[in-house]
Amino acid sequence: MTLPDTVGAAFDEVSRRLSGVGIASARLDARVLMSSVLGVDQATLYGHPERPLSAGEGARLADLVARRRRREPLARILGWREFWSLPMGVTADTFIPRPETETLVEAALDRLPGGNAGISILDLGTGSGCLLLALLSELPAAWGVGVDISAAALATAAANALSLGVAERARFVLADWGSGLRFRFDLIVANPPYVGDGELAGLAPEVAAFEPRQALTGGPDGMDAYRALLPQLCRLLATDGAIFLEIGAGQAAPVAAMIRRHGLQLIDIKRDLSKIERCLVIVPGRR
Ligand SMILES: C[S@@+](CC[C@H](N)C(=O)[O-])C[C@H]1O[C@@H](n2cnc3c(N)ncnc32)[C@H](O)[C@@H]1O
Repeated sequence: MTLPDTVGAAFDEVSRRLSGVGIASARLDARVLMSSVLGVDQATLYGHPERPLSAGEGARLADLVARRRRREPLARILGWREFWSLPMGVTADTFIPRPETETLVEAALDRLPGGNAGISILDLGTGSGCLLLALLSELPAAWGVGVDISAAALATAAANALSLGVAERARFVLADWGSGLRFRFDLIVANPPYVGDGELAGLAPEVAAFEPRQALTGGPDGMDAYRALLPQLCRLLATDGAIFLEIGAGQAAPVAAMIRRHGLQLIDIKRDLSKIERCLVIVPGRR
């Protein structure tokens, strides 16, 4: 169906079409989609409701609105999502970076000593590369490795490293977690899949139908990735290094128990902006 031919009327119609399928952020999404198609900022959209919409712009906008009505995430439609104030390219093969994951970046940067010459970073399950690339952008002397089981995700992470100007300090490795790595890192970050199988049906359609399954599911109780990862961390961590591990709501206690069993020590738990325990700070265990 064609859209009205002025910005103001088209905005009202796009908002109506999106709220009609239950999208709570319909007006915000309408603004983002319109400013992307028209190539203008949102203030300009507001200021000029009388601006005409060409037939081509209207057709492109209608196409994006149809995709959003099918609950495709906005970031996927636009092809990028902001993380740590950096634009991260995303595709169908990459998990869309979430704001709560910035808790890990903040915690890692807080813990670093003033100088960080040559610090090494390992990002397990790198996806778009968001964690590694945010840290490299903050730590100009650091270098790092991003690991993923998805070659397609690694291609996106490498493209992001290039566009953010840190490609010379980033390497990407196709592997099952840390298997095959023979180096000890100063900093390890990981946001593994931690949704339990039984929780999948309750997720928003944007997540359940569009995020790569291997980025989401952690088996029956959501803990499979921690079971696979934690035994490897001791041999991958430098003696004075630290690990920043993302967890889902309510997973702190069971993951903490595993940490102790694998020669590691939990020293802090950071909460995200919603006050949910989100990031475990882990160091080598006392000998
Ligand atoms: C929740 S996503 C996190 C992506 C990114 N680090 C972020 O925070 O947005 C989990 C990532 O782990 C990867 N992954 C799943 N199983 C893996 C495995 N066995 N070895 C390495 N990576 C794996 C997925 O492909 C996905 O990219």
